[in-house]
Amino acid sequence: MKNKFPFLPKHIAIIMDGNGRWAKKRGLERTEGHKVGAEVFRKICQYASDLGIEYMTFYAFSTENWKRSATEVEKIMDLLRAYLGEMQEREEENEDAGYNIHFIGSREGMPEDITTLMDIVEARSSDKNKIHINIAVNYGGRAEIVKSVKDIAKRLQSGEISVEDITEEMLSENLYTAGQPDPDLIIRPSGEQRLSNFLIWQAAYAEFYYDDVMWPDYTGEDLDRAIEAYLKRNRRFGGV
Ligand code: IPE
Ligand code: IPE
Ligand code: MG
Repeated sequence: MKNKFPFLPKHIAIIMDGNGRWAKKRGLERTEGHKVGAEVFRKICQYASDLGIEYMTFYAFSTENWKRSATEVEKIMDLLRAYLGEMQEREEENEDAGYNIHFIGSREGMPEDITTLMDIVEARSSDKNKIHINIAVNYGGRAEIVKSVKDIAKRLQSGEISVEDITEEMLSENLYTAGQPDPDLIIRPSGEQRLSNFLIWQAAYAEFYYDDVMWPDYTGEDLDRAIEAYLKRNRRFGGV
């Protein structure tokens, strides 16, 4: 599958949206949509890895998603728990053994057993390099920027740095995505055309691709289509 495209975006970010509407349309509970959505997430990780994409970021749960019913939030946490359990026990011969997994978002307010598993999975996969997979959980772009500013403010307060030392790079280095390239392509299925607080700093020069397909129906072909559209774009970064 490698070399399917003349070149590839280095970093693709996906807002996994439409689970609830997908379920409702079928007369199912919203949680059924999340269950299928979680399977699709696994498939797209594998597909992106086969294509040779270096970085993928998936928006799984936002800081605003706590507003949903307790049942729905619990179901999403259960799905996350199940995924983390699998990742913790994965065998070396499995495809996903090459994934370098990183969780972006705040650990505060998250169930403790989940944050413990997140630490284990991150530590065990930190030396892998087949593909970098960021999973955004309890993630909010504004909260992330505030976190970065606070980290910098502490260094300023202690006298370690001065106001003049503060740069865009310093802000970037204190985000959850420190050390990673910004997303080249951000995909949102389900017909919505908004960022919903996703990677707002990192998205400065990202190309957007919106798609009407609901996340539980998302396939590798849909990803191909987004990449094809991306390859036709002319990125100018303010130049000519
Ligand atoms: C995305 O699907 C999953 C999460 C936000 C956790 P939604 O649950 O937002 O699905 P819709 O937008 O209601 O269809
Ligand atoms: C964004 O989707 C969050 C995730 C997909 C995890 P939402 O469904 O929460 O976004 P809004 O509410 O439609 O903006
Ligand atoms: Mg939604």
